[in-house]
Amino acid sequence: MVEFSLPKNSQPKPGKHYPAQGAKRVRRVEVYRWNPDTDENPRIDSYEIDLDDCGPMVLDAILKIKNQIDSSLAFRRSCREGVCGSCAMNINGKNTLACTQSMADYAGTIKIFPLPHMAVVKDLVADMSHFFEQYASIQPWLSNQNPAPSDGERLQSPEQRAKLDGLYECVLCACCSTSCPSYWWNSERYLGPAVLLQAYRWLADSRDDADQQRLEQLNDAFKLYRCHTIMNCTDTCPKGLNPAKAIAEIKQQLLKHERD
Ligand code: SF4
Ligand code: SF4
Ligand code: FES
Repeated sequence: MVEFSLPKNSQPKPGKHYPAQGAKRVRRVEVYRWNPDTDENPRIDSYEIDLDDCGPMVLDAILKIKNQIDSSLAFRRSCREGVCGSCAMNINGKNTLACTQSMADYAGTIKIFPLPHMAVVKDLVADMSHFFEQYASIQPWLSNQNPAPSDGERLQSPEQRAKLDGLYECVLCACCSTSCPSYWWNSERYLGPAVLLQAYRWLADSRDDADQQRLEQLNDAFKLYRCHTIMNCTDTCPKGLNPAKAIAEIKQQLLKHERD
């Protein structure tokens, strides 16, 4: 894992203010700024956004800042429609996707921070390498010892396919894991809700026959059993998924597996 430095004082100080000259409809956006390579401490810069010259979403405001006001701002984005998961950040205290949140849904100043309890690469860019190493550890691909039929695909009944609903939609944004107190304190060993939802996605797939190995790998006091059903994960998921339920399903499958 890459070593990251921490700020001397984690409480950000007020930074620069960028007024919107001549704008009639203005929304103030405050953004966490920190470059660990050059700044001793983080700061909060504030930008006035001219709403008559900006798209409606929070990501539109961030893009306007980057393109027209302050090109030094760092953040991730790609699809701008909630399918790549890369624009995950904390907006007014809740982890979410900036591209799916309308500025109109927030009252007053919009406050934007990186995902909490993650090392900061720069500004709104969190270090996701450990998160994706954990994802790789659950072997997120189809495992089946029997060759696929020579004349086509591995088929599923509509009922078998329906078991993947609420799981396949996960965009691996990490909003859930970074809102989970258990993950904050034990992320070195606890897999967290996003990765566990993905683990259950493969356990629920009728085409996968590696259930036994998958369950044995998950049967660990830290990897799985640090979930204490606090439910922050389900509350925050911007795709409306229920990682806490997926974790409960894994625990049930483990109980059944141990009884059989
Ligand atoms: S339900 Fe489990 S995974 Fe979800 S926030 Fe709570 S402890 Fe974390
Ligand atoms: S379950 Fe939801 S919040 Fe968690 S990674 Fe997937 S899409 Fe993001
Ligand atoms: S830019 Fe892809 S989810 Fe927001």
